[in-house]
Amino acid sequence: TVPESEYKVADMSLAEFGRAELSIAEVEMPGLMALREEMGADKPLAGARVMGSLHMTVQTAVLIETLKELGADLRWCSCNIFSTQDHAAAAIVAAGTSVFAWKGETLEEYWWCTNRALSWADGGGPDLIVDDGGDATLLIHEGFKAEIAYAKDGTIPDPSSTDNAEFKLVLQTIKDGLPTDPKRWTKMVDRLVGVSEETTTGVHRLIERAREGSLLFPAINVNDCVTKSKFDNVYGCRHSLPDGIMRATDVMLAGKTVLICGYGDVGKGSAQAMKAAGARTLIAEVDPICALQACMEGFQVIPLADVIDQVDIVITTTGNKDIVMKDDMARMKNNAIIGNIGHFDNEIDMAGLENTPGIKKVEIKPQVHRFVFPDGHAVIVLAEGRLLNLGCATGHPSFVMSCSFTNQTLAQVELWKERTSGKYENNVYILPKVLDEKVARLHLGKLGAKLTELTSSQASYIGVKPEGPFKPESYRY
Ligand code: NAI
Repeated sequence: TVPESEYKVADMSLAEFGRAELSIAEVEMPGLMALREEMGADKPLAGARVMGSLHMTVQTAVLIETLKELGADLRWCSCNIFSTQDHAAAAIVAAGTSVFAWKGETLEEYWWCTNRALSWADGGGPDLIVDDGGDATLLIHEGFKAEIAYAKDGTIPDPSSTDNAEFKLVLQTIKDGLPTDPKRWTKMVDRLVGVSEETTTGVHRLIERAREGSLLFPAINVNDCVTKSKFDNVYGCRHSLPDGIMRATDVMLAGKTVLICGYGDVGKGSAQAMKAAGARTLIAEVDPICALQACMEGFQVIPLADVIDQVDIVITTTGNKDIVMKDDMARMKNNAIIGNIGHFDNEIDMAGLENTPGIKKVEIKPQVHRFVFPDGHAVIVLAEGRLLNLGCATGHPSFVMSCSFTNQTLAQVELWKERTSGKYENNVYILPKVLDEKVARLHLGKLGAKLTELTSSQASYIGVKPEGPFKPESYRY
């Protein structure tokens, strides 16, 4: 059992319900269960301390138990204040793993949880990180930077030096710990073998660090496995976007006009879902290739400013900032719905809504708010601008998360296996295509799919091995 000081969840009495849902999810997650079967006896993660910062859902619980079965010693937190499923968190604690996560954390609590999940009871840190969006990686990098400056000339981080509310909390967390343990982050970095990153936004942050030369440990980009971004981001959002909108508002989608901002992987799945529900679907894009793809699917491509006063629903999927601003919302129809499915809440101008005198915030229910403008019209904002599929619904379904998390597990095993070989430098890597194909293969049986096999003469005619890989690295699927 986990001592009380080593976990914090909403309600341990939910553990039994969590376990029941976990056992249903396991049947829908064939890739993870196959890895347990294949590697469980060998314990390839034996001796590895794994810290995870990834939505603490039922599906993540199956990932955690897979890593545990492979030998890992784990601590976990969520990567979003609204995404935890409290019954899943309770079930994981009941089974002996430290979790710091509950649905509806404050931002202060969020960074406390991340910090606690990074600190084993002996004071040391993790060997490996599973990150989603890069917040655990960010905290470690900022802590490390602060300690170097502190050791050099006694500089203490100054939370008031930034206007960014979240970054203030990062600096505060580091500042609070500095006097008692001025080598904490340096020691953590020394120990760290690497991180595997789940999502587009986190990968952008890692690539940025690698480019500046400031990345402190190797990283595997799980997002860009084909069996991750072309499945989770597309088909996961195709499922969980309408789920979130409908659970939050119960609005009829058919006949409505919906604007999807961004037509990347997430935007493609989101737009398909809206079209399938009978909504007139419009796309805003900056990239001409994605815009042309949208045209080929029959979507009208148009800037937000041209249509914002005509749409019933606007959804942001860009991973960029400042997409729907307060002045845009001022022009929207009464009770138009605004939601974000990208990683961070800065796609929608929440600060503008919250801080403008005269705009009134009315809670309809948790994660559903009506902002009333001085002229009397209102907009309905989902999940306070945070990813609505996890805030207002339960995120992606198990089957597609099995694809993503099978890649996560393979990445963790690979980093640990190669920890002393020097194979990975402080850079961002992707898994080899054979593993990508393996992940897909592990999910075919459950769907009743049967592959055609290449004859050896066919294989040599197209220049591949009969068992794969079947495509060159440059192939785009
Ligand atoms: P992507 O890079 O494939 O797509 C983003 C698209 O937005 C690009 O095509 C880009 O050109 C476009 N864009 C950028 N700025 C824009 C602007 N100002 N106006 C209109 N379009 C703009 O990225 P992907 O994989 O689709 O991910 C998008 C976001 O969703 C990321 O933050 C990612 O981390 C997150 N994500 C969320 C998931 C969820 O379950 N909620 C699942 C997977 C990813």
